[in-house]
Amino acid sequence: MCSLYNEDCLQTLSRFEDNSIDCVITDPPYSGLNAKGKVGASRFDQSEHHIEFDDMSERAFLLFIKPIFRELYRVMKLGSHLYCFTDWKQLRNMADCLELASFKIVNIVCWDKGHFGMGAGYRSQSEYLLVFSKGIPNTFNLKNVGNVIKTARAKDTIHPHQKPTDLLKILVENSTLEGDLIYDPFAGSCSTLKTAKAMNRNCIGSELSKEYCQSFANYENGLLL
Ligand SMILES: C[S@@+](CC[C@H](N)C(=O)[O-])C[C@H]1O[C@@H](n2cnc3c(N)ncnc32)[C@H](O)[C@@H]1O
Repeated sequence: MCSLYNEDCLQTLSRFEDNSIDCVITDPPYSGLNAKGKVGASRFDQSEHHIEFDDMSERAFLLFIKPIFRELYRVMKLGSHLYCFTDWKQLRNMADCLELASFKIVNIVCWDKGHFGMGAGYRSQSEYLLVFSKGIPNTFNLKNVGNVIKTARAKDTIHPHQKPTDLLKILVENSTLEGDLIYDPFAGSCSTLKTAKAMNRNCIGSELSKEYCQSFANYENGLLL
């Protein structure tokens, strides 16, 4: 099964039973791409690529994410792992919100993209992956992965925040087995779903944008709901 709901993730979450999801891998809107004057907004034209809820203040973000993390906690199985991408600016906020929702911190992984982006000063070469669990974390499957992972940015992207398959593969392999169910509440280009499906995991995603959902509908065997 590999399905995408074109709706607010809170609506999708309300469809799930308690303790039914084996792993969450997600990337909430956080970088302010829509914000005017953002440095390094990449090749994606801001007017063409509006990212839903991407320009919230810190307080607005807290109010937005709180009920979503609470619902994720309800639907995840005991011991399951939650991965949440974030940048250095939102890292503290995001970690606090996860803890407030009762998740336990397991680690913080630095994704080293190999090259820094636009701007000046300490130009951004990394993103962070918060690794949390519901209760005591299940044992990870891989023994040889450090908490700095170097992989190139995604190529041939259709989404400004698209994550690379090589990185997602490590998370899927480390935290799930074939047949497990992975959920991504902020699916974007569906990179998580496509990686999970290629690795014989079941997957469900939610995405508000019709445009990104349409690209998923064109994807082989992807079911758009
Ligand atoms: C940072 S992007 C995810 C990018 C994704 N990781 C990828 O590799 O393409 C966040 C996505 O969440 C979507 N989004 C924002 N608020 C949402 C909500 N309440 N429910 C579902 N999707 C939402 C946005 O439209 C955006 O595409």
